[in-house]
Amino acid sequence: MSSSVATISVRPVAGHIGADIEGVDLARPLGEQTVREIKEALHRYKVVFFRGQELDHAAQIAFGRQFGELTYAHPHDDTPPEGHPEIFTIDPRRFEERYGAGFVEEYRKRQYSYFDGWHTDVTAAVNPPAGSILRAEAVPEYGGDTQWTNLVAAYQGLSAPVRAFVDTLRAEHRYGGSRKVEGESAYAKRVNDNLLVAVHPVVRVHPETGERALFVNPGFTSHLVDVTASESRRILDLLYAEITRPEYTVRFRWEPGHVAFWDNRATAHLAPRDLEHLEVERRLHRVTLIGEVPVGPDGRESELVAGRPFTADHRVGTSV
Ligand code: SIN
Repeated sequence: MSSSVATISVRPVAGHIGADIEGVDLARPLGEQTVREIKEALHRYKVVFFRGQELDHAAQIAFGRQFGELTYAHPHDDTPPEGHPEIFTIDPRRFEERYGAGFVEEYRKRQYSYFDGWHTDVTAAVNPPAGSILRAEAVPEYGGDTQWTNLVAAYQGLSAPVRAFVDTLRAEHRYGGSRKVEGESAYAKRVNDNLLVAVHPVVRVHPETGERALFVNPGFTSHLVDVTASESRRILDLLYAEITRPEYTVRFRWEPGHVAFWDNRATAHLAPRDLEHLEVERRLHRVTLIGEVPVGPDGRESELVAGRPFTADHRVGTSV
């Protein structure tokens, strides 16, 4: 039975995005009302933060499952933790394993997290994750913050004529190919032999709130379709400048046990770049909720160009 008294406390932490949630132990089953309240906060604030939680892999998975089915760790992760195929571990030491020793010197400086630059998780898939839940296990004493931006606010901040224009556009998102993972490693081969490519509306209508969001990101969007290459570059530059405006963002300082839960349909995020010169440990674990196929303002769905939908199935391309 539901009660009208809130079971959690929700405190916004920035003007356009982000709220702290208190009064809940994520390691325990939540109950219908608490799940509903967290979802409402997520839809309103786009990313919510829980501090000082005590979750292990199994508890993080159980927490996530109360909000939907979970994907496999990552379309190109071969080594999730034993017995927990849903967990994607973000730890720079894993990149050495993925990319090989040569990678370290050249790329570690540019890529402290698994993917550097503003991005929305796995938008190269025809059904990008609906939400992501990231838990910190080990973090440096200083540095290593993550930032999120509100893509609904960025859309709403555009002038009416520009909103009407971008409502009509579609964009290709890809993992591999022109966004190539360089080198000869098994990981590079896996990515480039199993391209993940989708065409999404540039403006996505949120399936639960009905809000429109700018659904492009520098991490995965390769180009706008049906316009020239130079038009695509300039329009995307304009949109990237909008989605990364500081006023639409929030920055989160991690401590072990902290958890961030974001709506991947309405946000992009930025992994840290300020640890490259420091010998510090940073290890976080992520699970992602299986997403639906995006729909644009004209009711048209995204199209799969290469690969397969991102689900609990761990196979990458159609060929394996
Ligand atoms: C992510 O993109 O999910 C990871 C963000 C981070 O490492 O801060």
